Amino acid sequence: MIKLENVTKVYKTGTRALNGISLYINQGEFVYIIGATGSGKSTLIKILNGEEAASKGKVNVAGTDLTKLRTGRIPYFRRNVGVVYQDFCLLPKKTVFENVAFALEVVSEKTIYIRKRVREVLKLVDLEEKAKSFPNEISGGQKQRVAIGRAIANKPKVLIADEPTGNLDPEKSEEIIALLERINREEGTTILMVTHDKELVEKHKKRTILLQDGYIVADLMEGGYVSHD
Ligand SMILES: Nc1ncnc2c1ncn2[C@@H]1O[C@H](COP(=O)(O)OP(=O)(O)OP(=O)(O)O)[C@@H](O)[C@H]1O
Ligand SMILES: [Mg+2]
Repeated sequence: MIKLENVTKVYKTGTRALNGISLYINQGEFVYIIGATGSGKSTLIKILNGEEAASKGKVNVAGTDLTKLRTGRIPYFRRNVGVVYQDFCLLPKKTVFENVAFALEVVSEKTIYIRKRVREVLKLVDLEEKAKSFPNEISGGQKQRVAIGRAIANKPKVLIADEPTGNLDPEKSEEIIALLERINREEGTTILMVTHDKELVEKHKKRTILLQDGYIVADLMEGGYVSHD
């Protein structure tokens, strides 16, 4: 599902954010990416969703060779990859329902299908009763559930989350991880989650990749937290 070979990223500023990384992630896996600030986690995510291009090496996500992808094809590729950010990034003037629907409108789905799928997604993220609320009328945990709903509305093969619990308290973080686990199980979505949350990583053990200065320094199949502070 995800295949990186010898991927290096050097930003225009000269910063080497990733140094010859190789990584294989199978369909249906749920993987944590951890590491100190500046270790390259967000850079790795951006390379996987086509926001940044690798300077060197091969990147293949959901059957697409990103190193050969022309800019015009990026929107089509993005349909295969859902992305969730720490700060939710919802559209403030759209309701919960409309925020999720928007993800389907931009890929020109039919109205009747959109309504059906949005209802299905809102049920999955347990927000049916908030469909008509605006983002400023719901809690942080609920906002993140809307953002996750929006990211999976298109049924992407891969869901990438960059610190989805970063702005949430432990209880809300538990809700989010439970939701991601359900999506992983029920929709078969491959999930990559960047996190700083040691407790979460220890409690919900999964394959864990540790980045340090742009290198993968550990890849633990059994999960478990490696101190990097
Ligand atoms: N657009 C950019 N231009 C230049 N340098 C960048 C850019 N984005 C990130 N960097 C640098 O690349 C390195 C890796 O950054 P990255 O954002 O991937 O780290 P991170 O692991 O996500 O950190 P954090 O935990 O703070 O989010 C850092 O040294 C950072 O300053
Ligand atoms: Mg980051």
